[in-house]
Amino acid sequence: MTDTQFAPKKLFIKTYGCQMNVYDSDRMADALAPHGYHPTQDMAEADLILLNTCHIREKASEKVFSELGRLKELQTDRRASGGDLMIGVAGCVAQAEGEEIARRAPMVDMVFGPQAYHRLPEMLAKAESQRHMHPSLKRAVVDTDFPEEDKFAHLPAARKEVTISRGLTAFLTVQEGCDKFCSFCVVPYTRGSEVSRPVAQVLDEARRLAEAGVKEITLLGQNVNAYHGEDSGRAVGLGELAYRLAEIPGLERLRYTTSHPRDMDDALIAAHRDLDFLMPYLHLPVQSGSDTILKAMNRKHTAAEYLALIDKIKTARPDMALSGDFIVGFPGETDQDFKDTLSIIRAVGYASAYSFKYSTRPGTPGANMGNQVAEEVKVERLARLQELVTSQTNQFHASMVGRTLPVLIERVGRMPGQVGGRSPYLQAVHLEGSTDLIGAIHQVEITGVMTNSLTGRLAQAAAA
Ligand code: 5AD
Ligand code: SF4
Repeated sequence: MTDTQFAPKKLFIKTYGCQMNVYDSDRMADALAPHGYHPTQDMAEADLILLNTCHIREKASEKVFSELGRLKELQTDRRASGGDLMIGVAGCVAQAEGEEIARRAPMVDMVFGPQAYHRLPEMLAKAESQRHMHPSLKRAVVDTDFPEEDKFAHLPAARKEVTISRGLTAFLTVQEGCDKFCSFCVVPYTRGSEVSRPVAQVLDEARRLAEAGVKEITLLGQNVNAYHGEDSGRAVGLGELAYRLAEIPGLERLRYTTSHPRDMDDALIAAHRDLDFLMPYLHLPVQSGSDTILKAMNRKHTAAEYLALIDKIKTARPDMALSGDFIVGFPGETDQDFKDTLSIIRAVGYASAYSFKYSTRPGTPGANMGNQVAEEVKVERLARLQELVTSQTNQFHASMVGRTLPVLIERVGRMPGQVGGRSPYLQAVHLEGSTDLIGAIHQVEITGVMTNSLTGRLAQAAAA
């Protein structure tokens, strides 16, 4: 018997970046639960702290090193008082810079990439066995392999007992990795090539979530619409998967993110036409509106193709709300290229968008390109782009006032007596109402707009 069975331990996971990381953090918690680790929200009481890192943002690794600096103080204090604190670095920074972290931050016990989460208990056992070693001999356990084995195969059993009490909405990873190799992006290097979970595994997990009370599932993947899960020897795409998920009793809403324009096939568009269950909100990044830049980015589509695709989607589902990602200041971006980006934004009309200044990622083709754009030009372009997008977002929210929307009420609101939830278009909605409303979809008449949310009242109450 191990001592962990006598003394429950506390696990704190700090999650950076995308929803995939949020999901992965849950997976890590699941993997460690049988080994006596219980999640805590309080870093100060943790026996094990895991940083689940993201490599997408600029200076990602520096941010990890400075967080590790702070944790080192906590670890030193803990040891001075006879206790201990173990530290692990997971996620994409760990994948990309595992050895560097182990070398530069000797207080770290484990460094491991996204393909290694199911081996976490073994790593922890190894790391624990080194705890009492002389510091000069201690070495972080590093696991940044991309295993041949199916990285999803370990999921269902591990998640069986933990899907309960995850609330009314849940993430479900169906796909990982990316084969697109956009020239600015590290994902194909840190997350590896595209892999899809078999259909039966996805349906099983979705059924378990529904049985545990989950009403809305968001399917996750770096390139989720490239999903091609195996089912009886053939590949099933995301569109067909959506129809299959729609049959699960209790499940009322489906979302998915993030999609690539090239993988938005007719079957998926047809699913949007046929299934009310599939929410009318689509995150479909275009990155730039200039064909020259799109080519340099290796996006594999033109601006006109993207616009034609949006038309097709809106024909199938006229109320589809669109969201996007944009990069300004990609190497070689001229004023005209940037204007083309503003034009495509105007042509589409986004409900929301994320925008970034281009920053080099070592190892990606973009990093070796000449004609990098000056920082002040990027700053100025980003501000102009964000101003345009903010006005579109505000307009989109304002267009909801007076309409009645189905809102999945998920929680108590910010103010006493209020509850909150989400519209089909992923907008946060607050309204006066009893907590009895939580857990179901209610018709809500939208009465006002706040900065990033809507206010409303129960439609039945309004009619009475
Ligand atoms: N520089 C700026 N933005 C980037 N993104 C990805 N890599 C970079 C980079 N090197 C943005 C893209 C992507 C989003 C998740 O992050 O817009 O869609
Ligand atoms: Fe990165 Fe492009 Fe793949 Fe998206 S599609 S993860 S931006 S390489």
